[in-house]
Amino acid sequence: MGMRVLVCGGAGYIGSHTVIQLLAAGHDVLILDNFANSKPAVIKRLESITGEHLRVHAFDLRDAERTERLFDHEQIEAVIHFAGHKAVGESVEKPLEYYQNNLGSTFSLLRAMERHGVTKLVFSSSATVYGENAPVPMTEDLPTSATNPYGWTKVMIEQVLRDVAVAQPDQRIAILRYFNPVGAHRSGTIGEDPSGIPNNLLPYICQVAVGRLQKLRVFGDDYDTPDGTALRDYIHVEDLAAGHVAALARLTATERAVSTWNLGTGNGSSVLEMLHAFERAVGRTLPYEIVGRRAGDIAASFADPGRARAELGWKATHTIDDMCVDSWRWQSQNPNGYPDA
Ligand code: NAD
Ligand code: UD1
Repeated sequence: MGMRVLVCGGAGYIGSHTVIQLLAAGHDVLILDNFANSKPAVIKRLESITGEHLRVHAFDLRDAERTERLFDHEQIEAVIHFAGHKAVGESVEKPLEYYQNNLGSTFSLLRAMERHGVTKLVFSSSATVYGENAPVPMTEDLPTSATNPYGWTKVMIEQVLRDVAVAQPDQRIAILRYFNPVGAHRSGTIGEDPSGIPNNLLPYICQVAVGRLQKLRVFGDDYDTPDGTALRDYIHVEDLAAGHVAALARLTATERAVSTWNLGTGNGSSVLEMLHAFERAVGRTLPYEIVGRRAGDIAASFADPGRARAELGWKATHTIDDMCVDSWRWQSQNPNGYPDA
């Protein structure tokens, strides 16, 4: 049963991949994005992949009046909320921007949903809410905490959503905790396009492979892990997108006001394993050096994806080789990311 779904942050990395799968599942999609961290060029690419005209509302979700007007004019039945800032380091430098944007956009959205009787919401949370000392594999019932303003915005928004659900028990809210999203659409025409020097591993390796960066610095090889480098649960963005479609379907059937699901593969891959998988995708070795640990990093983070499997019937299927092949296709076809116009 198709719904009219508002995708806030739908021009971004994960949002754009999710839009494709929502359309394929028969939903009617509206995109809201202020292009703070994305480029309008992505919309044309989405239209050429899907063969559909996309309706885009280009404004800041914090603009409560415009958000109200949008809900007045469109029969929105469900919302997926990707909109927010996401760079950990930047959040330490500019905490107020992070709190204002991530919380402010959520408040404006929740108000408009309440006034218009919209009761289905899927929210982008993160495994970062498990904090520093969580045992692996991580289960959804672990306590939450954070070590930086970005992480706190996720912890806080999760709490806001639980409180709203108590006051509005007809709400059906999915909190999706993503592990490490990587990869790109198989067409190679959409993918992750970070601005400036990437902080995350795969985008960094991609730029080493195209020659924009000299070599990978591996942050620490003295962790208590099989090869000494840290373990993460890398998940293909296509699997992640499918998880949103499954969560939306589940919200129409569940009696629970708030559901929290990990979206991960359940496997921990090391930094060196990812580097070597990427080298296989590119067909040559890539330069790297081992340096000290990055402040704030943990040795291992990977999901127990059992709840999502049982309740959503969803499971990640792509391997780390698939992730690297698809990232490389995107990066090699678009060495400078999306064009500006
Ligand atoms: P992204 O930056 O590519 O996409 C976010 C989109 O939201 C961008 O297009 C941006 O322009 C838009 N946006 C930001 N603030 C806005 C506002 N106030 N009004 C309207 N639009 C706004 O990020 P992404 O990687 O696609 O992540 C999507 C969501 O998933 C974010 O909430 C992020 O915190 C969360 N998340 C991402 C990761 C990851 O590693 N990519 C991991 C865990 C959680
Ligand atoms: C980052 C975020 C986290 C977010 C997660 C989701 C930070 C500090 N944390 O964590 O909040 O939820 O992404 O995607 O940014 N590495 C290198 N060299 C590099 C880059 C990374 O060795 O140049 C290593 C890191 O030390 C880590 C692994 O690669 O062990 C993955 O790093 P990254 O992609 O930044 O993800 P997370 O550390 O999981």
